[in-house]
Amino acid sequence: MNDFIFCSPTQFVFGHGANDKIGEMLAQREGFKRALLVYGQGSVVRTGTLDRVKKSLDAAGIEYVEFGGVRPNPEVNDVRKGIEAVRENDIDFILPVGGGSTIDCAKAIGFGALHNGDVWDFFSGKAAVERCMPIVAVLTIPAAGSEASSSCVISNDELGLKKGTNGDAFRPVMAFMDPEVTFTLPAYQTAAGVTDMIAHICERFFSGVGDVPVTDNMACDVIRALMDAAPQVLENPEDYDARAAIMWASTLAHNDVLGLGRSTNPASRAGGWESHALEHELSAFDPKITHGAALAVIMPAWMRYVWREDPSRFLLFGMNVFGIEPIDDTDEAVEDAVTVIIDELQGFFASMGMPTKLGDFGLKPENIDAFLKTLEANKGSVFGGFKKLTMDDARAIYESAF
Ligand code: NZQ
Ligand code: ZN
Repeated sequence: MNDFIFCSPTQFVFGHGANDKIGEMLAQREGFKRALLVYGQGSVVRTGTLDRVKKSLDAAGIEYVEFGGVRPNPEVNDVRKGIEAVRENDIDFILPVGGGSTIDCAKAIGFGALHNGDVWDFFSGKAAVERCMPIVAVLTIPAAGSEASSSCVISNDELGLKKGTNGDAFRPVMAFMDPEVTFTLPAYQTAAGVTDMIAHICERFFSGVGDVPVTDNMACDVIRALMDAAPQVLENPEDYDARAAIMWASTLAHNDVLGLGRSTNPASRAGGWESHALEHELSAFDPKITHGAALAVIMPAWMRYVWREDPSRFLLFGMNVFGIEPIDDTDEAVEDAVTVIIDELQGFFASMGMPTKLGDFGLKPENIDAFLKTLEANKGSVFGGFKKLTMDDARAIYESAF
């Protein structure tokens, strides 16, 4: 097990009626008087979640200024407008109600508002995030794990880029998580969320570090719990316990606990994040592409390309998650087993209604040049950890995904 430094400072309020407790719990803290209430393109208005949050704030005398309209795959111009709203309204904390897009926009507003230059500086590498206004997340879609993660991902349409920045300073101080608010999620968003969580776990599991039993076993168990719960909610969207399992898994999948001991740098997250790097170019190219859905195509393609680098990791994954073993230890049997393991994983994504080919998103092989251009701008000419990937490797993976 490698050394690590880990801090997950988020206080979780999880379960029935969690969102009715927001006001009273914030009132117990110092300095949470006036919020920027950030939300997306209307789901929280339609479902009544926003009204319930406002009622709870009103009852506790906590003021708020609304900032709605954040799009999925949030854009830096929305962040800039949010920063203005913070500065004009004497805001002291940011309260996103939504999913990864809304929470990431809120995070970027929270650290951008304390910066003298432009907020894109934190994504272009000109500045590192050292401080952030407090973020209190109200989660409505389990997927990205932003409710407790140290990541923030923002698109810049003008530059054609989607970039992430990392820092413990913007991990939310509190996260309110009521599984009932996820009953309204469409099947596609539910499935894309589950896929994203499994990808977050796999990026860490396939990190190029040897076995770390505590972390590896927990990682595979969370994936198994997701695979049990997903068909249940797709069958019955109001299955509270299955929704709850998925919601908590979203946090565990990405708050770093399932990567501990698997990083070569104690202060950084485990894994090379190759599938995420390859995917972000797709949802940057077309913001209508859902991150998790694109991962359902990209991650199996990446796995098929790299597994020979360390077949033992794939065999451990296959044994723990699917109970699949090679019939003997010949190269042929190992290849057969790994192929079946990756087929099973991709088959699970497809069984939830996820796409299996990049063409399913309306993308064309001619678009690969554009993906590679922004990939290289984001990651340099060689990236990844499990296997170092050149731009030729990335091209081959994209091609195999059509
Ligand atoms: O915009 P509204 O109207 O709110 O609708 C949203 C949106 O269309 C809808 N929705 C949310 N809650 C709902 C609901 N619909 C019905 N009922 C509800 N309860 O769902 C749609 C997707 O929402 P979004 O926030 O975009 O989803 P997600 O949580 O998957 O976030 C995706 C973003 O997070 C980034 C992705 O790249 C993408 O930009 N990521 C962030 C990470 C992080 N900060 O740690 C890590 C991830 O790997 C990821 O890259
Ligand atoms: Zn993700």
